[in-house]
Amino acid sequence: MECVCVWLVCVFVLSVCVGARSSLDGQRHLVTDGDAAPDLCEIDPPLCQDAASRLSFASLCSVHRLMDEDEDGSVDASETHEFLRDDLSLDSKDKHRKFHRADALISLQDLWSSWKSSEVYNWTQQQVFDWFLVSVELPQYSESFRKLQLDGKALPRLAVRSPPLTSSLKVSDRTHAQKLQLKALDIVLFGPPPGPPPRPLSPSGSGGGLHLLPAEQEVKRGLGRVLSDLEAAEC
Ligand SMILES: *[C@@H]1O[C@H](CO)[C@@H](O)[C@H](O)[C@H]1NC(C)=O
Repeated sequence: MECVCVWLVCVFVLSVCVGARSSLDGQRHLVTDGDAAPDLCEIDPPLCQDAASRLSFASLCSVHRLMDEDEDGSVDASETHEFLRDDLSLDSKDKHRKFHRADALISLQDLWSSWKSSEVYNWTQQQVFDWFLVSVELPQYSESFRKLQLDGKALPRLAVRSPPLTSSLKVSDRTHAQKLQLKALDIVLFGPPPGPPPRPLSPSGSGGGLHLLPAEQEVKRGLGRVLSDLEAAEC
């Protein structure tokens, strides 16, 4: 009888332990879900099944993760400031203002909706190609870039390392790949530069008035770091 009692107690204790374990597991599972990056389907159901949108969203998610240094889910003014100053070395006031337009805290959802309201999002393939010619200044790739037929919606994919894209561009020089990445990051986060939309220079036109930095110099201005960080950040 005593034996049976002890046995029963054992079974009871054991089942309580197992019960506690599984509810702990459940909790941990919930916490993990809470930390996970939100899915496009939650943020933007109409585009949930759109393959191109999903790729762009994943790219923006990587950028957001990189900017959100304290990992609290949103990018605050000081994080933007640091990102611009230390990582991009870009003239920051105007871009800072553009990025934070109305919001002090930029969540991934904010970033996605501000990207969708950017005029760049609606750019046609021709406008993207013109941007490539005028702003990216890597004419040696223009023919393969044109063949990619990217429209504005695809630009976030150029802002992070995207092996399928860079390999179809046949970019062998790392500084060239980084320059393209940086230019795309700039236009996706901060919109097009002020002024009339880019018009490609005619081959006979003089580009003498423009201050053009060679790709190497531009990458050395401290941009290399953020770009390699972006390669590492994943959502
Ligand atoms: C982009 O195009 C869509 C559909 O034509 C339009 O509703 C939207 O207002 C446009 N966005 C911008 C920023 O021009």
